[in-house]
Amino acid sequence: MSRIRSMAEYEKAHKESMDNQEKFWGDYAEQFTWHKKWDKVYSGDLNKLDYKWFEGAKLNMSENCLDRHLATKGDKTALIFEANDPKEDVKRYTYKELHHEVNKFANVLKDQGVKKGDIVTFYMGMVPELLIGIVACTRIGAIHSVVFGGFSAVALSDRMIDAESKILITNDGSYRGTKIIPLKETADEAVAKCPTVKSVIVCKRTGNDVNMASGRDVWYHDAYNKAADNCAPESMDSEDPLFILYTSGSTGKPKGQVHTTAGYMNWAKFTFENVFQVEENDMYWCTADIGWVTGHTYITYGPLLSGATTIMFEGVPTWPDAGRFWEVCDKHKVTHFYTAPTAIRALQAQGLEHVTKHSLATLKVLGTVGEPINEEAWEWYYKNIGKEKCPIADTWWQTETGGIMISNLAGVTPHKTSFATRPLPGVEPSLVDADGKEIKGNPADGNLCINRHWPGMTRGIWGDMDRFRQTYFTTYPGKYFTGDGAKRDENGLYRITGRVDDVINVSGHRIGTAEVEDALNQHEKVVESAVVGYPHEIKGAGIYAYVICTEKPADINAFKKELAQLVTKLIGPIARPDKIQMSSGLPKTRSGKIMRRILRKVAEGENDKLGDISTLLNPDVVAEIIEGAKKI
Ligand code: WTA
Repeated sequence: MSRIRSMAEYEKAHKESMDNQEKFWGDYAEQFTWHKKWDKVYSGDLNKLDYKWFEGAKLNMSENCLDRHLATKGDKTALIFEANDPKEDVKRYTYKELHHEVNKFANVLKDQGVKKGDIVTFYMGMVPELLIGIVACTRIGAIHSVVFGGFSAVALSDRMIDAESKILITNDGSYRGTKIIPLKETADEAVAKCPTVKSVIVCKRTGNDVNMASGRDVWYHDAYNKAADNCAPESMDSEDPLFILYTSGSTGKPKGQVHTTAGYMNWAKFTFENVFQVEENDMYWCTADIGWVTGHTYITYGPLLSGATTIMFEGVPTWPDAGRFWEVCDKHKVTHFYTAPTAIRALQAQGLEHVTKHSLATLKVLGTVGEPINEEAWEWYYKNIGKEKCPIADTWWQTETGGIMISNLAGVTPHKTSFATRPLPGVEPSLVDADGKEIKGNPADGNLCINRHWPGMTRGIWGDMDRFRQTYFTTYPGKYFTGDGAKRDENGLYRITGRVDDVINVSGHRIGTAEVEDALNQHEKVVESAVVGYPHEIKGAGIYAYVICTEKPADINAFKKELAQLVTKLIGPIARPDKIQMSSGLPKTRSGKIMRRILRKVAEGENDKLGDISTLLNPDVVAEIIEGAKKI
C-alpha cells in the first residue's frame, strides 16, 4: 500500500484495515527485508492475550533501518546531531556512515559478551551514540532498555534489577544548558546495587572526572577502536522482544513494556509516514528524548525505517535563550517539527520576541504529543510557529501502543483545535461508560479503550503477565483500557481529556501517584501520604502531596524541602512535588480507602464540588484540609 494522500484514501484504508486486517497488513509488510516471510499475518485476541503478528517470519530491525536504504540512499543524511551548545559543530551521518557506526557498536557489544536475548540498559544524554547503540542492539538481537537520563540512581537500579541487565552503557556526563549532569556518578551508585551488571561502557561526552572500576568499566572509544567493522544482522523471530521501556502506572513500580520486532517495525513506519507525510528532501525534527517512547519511535525507528533525515537535539529549549528551538529550525531548514504541549506553553510564556527573530519559513507540518494540548497553546502554536499555514498533528498514543493511535494525518485529514481527531488505520477505539458499556453514537464522553490488537501493541509487562492483565484488561474485559478519558464530538472526532487513573502527566512525563507516595513514606517522620495532580499552567499537571506526620515538624519549610529531596533521590527531579500540605488525617471511606476524589478537588481549588462527604469515616478532616490548602 502506498502512502495515504487524501481523505478518501484515509477512509478507504481505515475500512480495509477493519474489514480485512490480514490483507491490509500483509500488503504493507511486503516492502521490508525479510529473511523468511510470515506464516500468518496475525492471530490471537485480547481475551487470551496471545496475540501475535507476522508469526513465523524472520528479520532484523537494523537491516530494515539501514542496509535496506544503502543502495538508493547511502549518501543521504540519516542523522543530524545538534549539540547543547549552538557553537559546537553539527555532526551529520549519512545512511552509509550510520550503518558503519551501528556495525561497530554491535561489535563492541559482542566483544563485551552481549548475546542475543540479553538486556542492555542505556543511561545516557542525547548523543548520537545513544541512537547508534540501540540500533546496534537490534543488529545482534539484544534487547535495549533505555532509562531516561533524568532518573535517579535508585530508579536506574530498580530498572536494571527488574530486567536483570548485565551491561550498562552510559556517558561521563551530559550537557543541559549551562549544567553538566554527572551521569557516570549516578550510574556508579546504581550499579553498586545491581549484582547482575558485569560491565559498564562509558562514552565520553563532557570530559568531567569519573571513576573507572577496573575489570568492570571500559571507555567506549577504546572498545570501538578495537572492534571489527562488520557485523552480520542476526536473524530474529517476528515476536522476539526488540526493546523494553519502563513506564509508570497507577500502582506499584514502573512496568517494563515489551515491544517485539516485526509488529512494532510495521507500526513505527506506517504511523510515521502517514501522520507526518515527510517527503524525500524534508527535514524532520522531533524534540523528545530517546529516554521516552517518542524518542524510540519518532526519532529513531520511524524516520530510519522510512529513509528520512532525523535531527537529534541535545540541549534545552530555553538556553542560550528561549528562541533556541526556532534558531535550530532555521539553521537546519526544518520542515517537520514535533514537540510537546509543555514546551509550547513554556515558550509561549517567554514572549513573542524570541519567535519573531527567526523566520520559520521552511516549516510545513507541526506535531504535538504527550498530553492534551489546551486551546490557547494550540492557537499560539498554529499562529506564531506555523504562521497559519502548517497543519498540527495532535498525536495521541502511549508507551504501550508503540506508535501513534489517534491523530489527523498532516495536510491529509483535517486538524481541529485540541482534538486528536481520527483513529489511524488498524485502530478501533471505543468510549466506555462507568458500567463498562460501550457508548455508541455521538457525541459521547467516556473512558478510552481499544477494541482489537494492532501490530505495535505492547506484548506485556516484562516478567509480569498477571499485572499486565490486571492493569489493562480487567476494567473492561475484552478491551484494552488506556487509562485516558476522551470525548467524541458530533462528527465522531476524538478529543483526549487526560488520565482517569492515578497517573499524573507532568510536563508530558508519566508519574504514578503510588510511586511518589512510596518515596514520601520512606521518610521516618511520614505516617501516610496521598498524591494527586492539579492543573499547572506550564507543566499541564503539577504534583500535590498531602502528608501526615508522626509529629508536627519544628520547621515546616525545612521539612518540606527534605521531602522534596527524598523524592528527587528516589525517583528523580521530574517527580518532585510542587506543593506539599501537612495534615492530621486523610479523608477515608468506612473501609479505609483514601478518597482521592476529594483530595483532587481540594487541590484544584474546587471546594464546592466535593460531593457527599457525610459517609466518610472522618468527615471532619475535610474542613481542615480545605483550610490548610488555602495556605499552600
Ligand atoms: C498522554 C507518550 C492528549 C495520555 C507518547 C497518554 C496525550 C499518555 C497525547 C502516554 C495527546 C499522549 N493528547 N494526551 N496527543 N499524547 N498523551 O506513555 O494521557 O509517555 O495515556 O507516551 O500521555 O504517555 P507515554
